[in-house]
Amino acid sequence: MAKIRPKDKRDGYLMAHIGLIGIGVMGGAFALNLAEKGHTVSLLDRSSEKMAEAVGEAKSEGLPGELIACADAEVFVQSLPKPRSILVLVPSGGPLDSVIGMLKPLLDKGDLIADLGNSNYTDTERRVAELEDTGLMFLGMGISGGAEGARHGPAIMAGGSKESWARVKAPLQDSSAKFGDDPCCDWFGPGGSGHFIKMLHNGIEYADMQLIAESYGLMANGFGMTPKEIGVVFKEWNKGPLDSYLMEIAAEVALAEDPKTGKAMLDIILDKAGQKGTGRWSVIEALHLGAPASLMAAAVEARNISADVDTRLEMEAAFGPSPEPVSDVDKAEAIKTLESAMIAGKICSYAQGFEVLQKASDQFEWDLDMAAISRVWRAGCIIRSVFLDEISDVFDNTDERHLILAPVFKKHMQTHAPALQAVATFGLGNGHAIPAFAAALNYHNMRRTGRSTANMIQGLRDYFGAHTFERLDNPGEKVNGPWHG
Ligand code: 6PG
Repeated sequence: MAKIRPKDKRDGYLMAHIGLIGIGVMGGAFALNLAEKGHTVSLLDRSSEKMAEAVGEAKSEGLPGELIACADAEVFVQSLPKPRSILVLVPSGGPLDSVIGMLKPLLDKGDLIADLGNSNYTDTERRVAELEDTGLMFLGMGISGGAEGARHGPAIMAGGSKESWARVKAPLQDSSAKFGDDPCCDWFGPGGSGHFIKMLHNGIEYADMQLIAESYGLMANGFGMTPKEIGVVFKEWNKGPLDSYLMEIAAEVALAEDPKTGKAMLDIILDKAGQKGTGRWSVIEALHLGAPASLMAAAVEARNISADVDTRLEMEAAFGPSPEPVSDVDKAEAIKTLESAMIAGKICSYAQGFEVLQKASDQFEWDLDMAAISRVWRAGCIIRSVFLDEISDVFDNTDERHLILAPVFKKHMQTHAPALQAVATFGLGNGHAIPAFAAALNYHNMRRTGRSTANMIQGLRDYFGAHTFERLDNPGEKVNGPWHG
């Protein structure tokens, strides 16, 4: 049986000996990250090979912390000092419930299980309640940054009791990404709040990616540019306001060549997008909360439609091929307009994301700190960007109730919204599918319309169902119209 090591100290800070279950790509990388920071980690996985690999790697890299592979759950639990802290990085849903079921009878009151998977926040709420009833502690934490992030510093969004958070805060902040000296790892509120924030992070990630894909589509199919030329544009954009991890890797994807054929990788990859559910959940939750999420919805729908390749091919045969590039387009000018539209689209998308978070915070009484959320997203995670730095500044320094009403973003939208209009006009006018750009423009137009068309909706509702409406000249009083004589 693995021996219990005494906790040792570094810089006056007590090193943790924690457990980690699930030594897959992410789990293995995170174990090495913790070991690099000097922590002792007991490992448990169905695959002894994967554990041996991680242990071997920690040794060969000469990491200061120790990784201990445990033969079974009992050995694993016994190896940990009480009260125990166990991180779990297994697929969400059934696999996580099985791990919890396996651990429960072996643990003692006060022991903590922390889920670092992409769990649905409603499952996390349930698990927190169920486990706390039995005297155990449970944290739901979203972790972002892929395998590279897990190894060298992910962004972490935690939710659950403050007491549970205090237990793992130090080792997690230690191993998280840093923006300057600030760890991109924080606790945001009770229950499923951490996983809700991670879910929304992914929803925004979907919308960011869709805007990039639509820009690529307009440059390729609208302006007749090659993937290489597009990669060069993305590289340029990554030096300006669109500087972000996703823009950086979009350039790399566009510039990459297939080693087998020498063709551009983008011309080789099947146009059928996968998804695991967090984007869809974000849209569903936004609808439940009554918050706008049209860019995320556009991104999910684009992935859904892309997945049905056969129907797309049949429809193309029925309605004619995709539009040809416009020959007389001034490319340099068009690319500048597209960059500007991307900025406006991104602002609309993040504004929607924060609207959803604010609604969730109000409805679930989570008291979420929007500035802290945007600060955690500045490094380590997939949506990291200079843009988030600007957003966190706004939340830190103004109490404007809507991101776009904050002076700096109001100015950005005044500058960039005309380009959004131009891109939507060019794209739709020439027969291209640009659901995210169109959603951004519609959102902006709806939000800035003082007198909307909902008077007609109210009139219709009252006509067929006597649902009442308010008069402009007497707001507050619910009245019926003169429809039925
Ligand atoms: C992250 C990513 C990560 C994962 C997504 C991909 O923050 O590190 O978002 O969570 O890559 O789950 O989601 P899809 O497979 O749905 O695109």
